[in-house]
Amino acid sequence: MTRHVLAMLLAIATTAAVSSTTWAAAPHEPVNHRFCFTCHGTDGMGSEGIQAPRLAGMEPWYLQRQLELFRAGGRGTHPDDTQGLEMQPMAAILTDANIADIIDWAATWEYKPAVPTLTNGNADNGRQLYQACATCHGADGQGNEAMNAPALRGQNDWYMVTQLKNFKAGYRGTDPLDTFGAPMRAMAAGLRDEQAITDVVSYINTLRR
Ligand code: HEC
Ligand code: HEC
Repeated sequence: MTRHVLAMLLAIATTAAVSSTTWAAAPHEPVNHRFCFTCHGTDGMGSEGIQAPRLAGMEPWYLQRQLELFRAGGRGTHPDDTQGLEMQPMAAILTDANIADIIDWAATWEYKPAVPTLTNGNADNGRQLYQACATCHGADGQGNEAMNAPALRGQNDWYMVTQLKNFKAGYRGTDPLDTFGAPMRAMAAGLRDEQAITDVVSYINTLRR
């Protein structure tokens, strides 16, 4: 993303934050928050070009926590977290009321699984590796709020690969504020190399419904 586009988006985003009154008329259609989809793709289906993941169908509790975490600087502030650094300023300008509106809006988004892009993964090996993930993320990758673990099935595979690399490298899950992300560091460390990451995500791709 060029600086110019980022600056433009920030300008739109800032306008959105101050003009929250316009949302009162249509709480489920906060027009000013359409800027989220500029990066997150049509209908929130994710955009590989910008590396912004699918939001459609995301659990409201997870969405809210990530927005608050980005806003507080607990995610997206590590200098090597290239993609997180793009999202952090977008969350930084949101008020609590803005976030509440986005959660309302998100409830109207339709769940549609992302189209898989990985071709070099061994899903059989990934199935073995996934045994360690199922306790928290669910046997079908459906997520488990009681474990604070979001759904993985249907998420963009390229995004999950990046996140597992980021946890492994310590770009995510190391900030003192990121208490929910911290346990994922050990889990990602258990994935030996890039192939293991590709394999486990290829298996998660088979869990789409
Ligand atoms: C400038 C482009 C851009 C804009 C605008 C943007 N995002 Fe993002 N967003 C990203 C990128 C890139 C990521 C991936 C960050 C990463 O890899 O850690 C992301 C990540 C996220 C995540 C984390 C998803 C997850 O599974 O953990 C959430 C939630 C999110 N964005 C919500 C929003 C919302 C809501 C808006 C509008 C208020 C918004 N974003 C606007 C680029 C953007
Ligand atoms: C101890 C529970 C636990 C286990 C086991 C676990 N995870 Fe997680 N995982 C979490 C939690 C909690 C989060 C959300 C962190 C946050 O809120 O920032 C998460 C987040 C993720 C994310 C990022 C999702 C997103 O939308 O950004 C991915 C990808 C992921 N886990 C994959 C895996 C894989 C693959 C395994 C197995 C190798 C695994 N997890 C094992 C608890 C777990």
